This record gives sequence, C-alpha cells and structure tokens, in this order.
Amino acid sequence: MAHRMTQANRQGWDGLVATHTRTYHIDRLIAGTPLVNDLIRSEVGDVSGKSLAHLLCHIGTDTLSWALLGARVTGIDISPEALKVARQLAQQMGIEADFIEADVMDVMEKVNRKFDIVFSSTGVLCWIPDIRHYARTVRHLLNDTGFFYLHDGHPFRSVLLDEAGEMGAPNRIQGDYFRKEVWRYAGMGDYTDPELVVPVNSFEWHWTMGEIITAFCDAGMRIVFLHEYPQYFYGGYSAYNEDESVELYPCTFSFKAVAE
Ligand SMILES: C[S@@+](CC[C@H](N)C(=O)[O-])C[C@H]1O[C@@H](n2cnc3c(N)ncnc32)[C@H](O)[C@@H]1O
Repeated sequence: MAHRMTQANRQGWDGLVATHTRTYHIDRLIAGTPLVNDLIRSEVGDVSGKSLAHLLCHIGTDTLSWALLGARVTGIDISPEALKVARQLAQQMGIEADFIEADVMDVMEKVNRKFDIVFSSTGVLCWIPDIRHYARTVRHLLNDTGFFYLHDGHPFRSVLLDEAGEMGAPNRIQGDYFRKEVWRYAGMGDYTDPELVVPVNSFEWHWTMGEIITAFCDAGMRIVFLHEYPQYFYGGYSAYNEDESVELYPCTFSFKAVAE
C-alpha cells in the first residue's frame, strides 16, 4: 500500500522536474556558488574530504553544493527525471558524483557503502511512510564515526491550517498533531510555481517530534542537538523560498545525530 502511494508521489516529482530546472538557482550553482544556506552550512560544519550521502536529493543542487565544499557525494532519490538533471549538472560542472535511483525505503537492501555524513533537508519526512525504517536506513549508511543531519519543516507547523486547508496559517490550530492517517492530495502542487499542479494523487505522512527523535535513538544514534526555528525555509535557500518572515511558533527544525 505504502509502495503504491510512494510510486504515485514519484510520478508527481517527475512532473515537477522540468519546472525546477527553471526555478531553482542552477545558474548560480554552475557558476560555483554552493546553494546550501548559511544556517545549514554552519550546523553541518566542514565537509571537506568526507563522504556524504544525500537522501532525497531531488535534482542534486544541494548534493553538488556539498561537492563544491569538498565532499565526495552520493545522491539518492526515487525520481528518474530528477536524477537525469542531477547527473547532467554534475557532468556540466565537472564533478564526480554518484546518483542512485531508489526508494529510500529500499536503500538498506540496495546500498551497502558507508558514509561519514548522511544529509537530508527541506521537504523530507513528509514523504517517508515509516520513520523508524528511515532512521534505521540512515544508521545503515553511516560508518561508526559518522553523523546524520536533517533540516526540515517542523511537525507543529502542519497543524496550523487556514480555511483552504493550507499549512502554516498563524494562530489557527485546526489539524491534529497526533493524527495517524496518510494525507491524500488530489494533485501534486509545486512550491516554486503556484500555477503548477501535476495531475496525480499525492500522499504525505506526518511524524511528531517525539516519533522522529525516538526513531533515531532506537536506531542506534545519539542526538547531539535539536534546534527549532521560527522561520520557514528561508534565507536564500538554494531552491526557492527567500521569504524571511519570523513567526511565533516553530516552522522548521534541525538535528544532528551521531552513530553509537
Ligand atoms: C522536496 S524534494 C527535496 C528537496 C531537496 N531538498 C532539494 O534541494 O531540492 C523531495 C524529493 O524526495 C524524493 N522522494 C520522495 N519520496 C521518496 C522516496 N520514498 N524515496 C526516495 N526519494 C523520494 C522526490 O523524488 C523529491 O526529489
């Protein structure tokens, strides 16, 4: 069942790629500017000489940004269209990068290499049907001295819904933070172009902060920090949102976990 939903999501993502090749700041990346924002760069730290696996890498803009900063990179994503662009970009930039097409839920069987860093950011956990499996996958990919870093939308933000059911409306707590059902959307909307809707059903999952952190602890990792931020994806994020509004509730969060 989850597999069918994930395949529907893949079709949606395939359908957004052509637009993202226009709307992401690819020209800046090709000119040699890493697109990962300063907050994430400072929290991840120096990556030079490190092997880095980027889970849910999309068209590879952040993956290749880490390569510009000195990492040996591998991107993993389910969308063949996204990976086609990622591979073309790597070639154009003269970067040796590996891009693997896989459902992240199958990565434990498909990828046996170990990495110093596993990285994931900006629109990740809502696509994961099983947070505990995801955490075990991250641990599987890490070498024994490695760490995982995630920056993503805060689960609390998704209970703030406006009348149209859109997330992030201030002071309107209408959703159920503890809900267990999968969210089904008629159409896959785009965060870079409000006009674009790919006509496939898409499915999203919701994980509470407790479920997320406990999954990583149970998978054999120790949390080094957990930060919550009142800004959504902001500050010249590689791809899209440069809105810097500051809210009164947590919009994004990040955490780092080391292998134990
Ligand atoms: C919001 S994008 C991630 C954005 C990315 N951080 C960036 O820089 O553009 C989500 C990505 O997750 C991928 N994805 C969704 N479900 C997946 C799954 N089950 N396994 C692997 N990749 C998946 C999609 O193909 C898409 O490229």
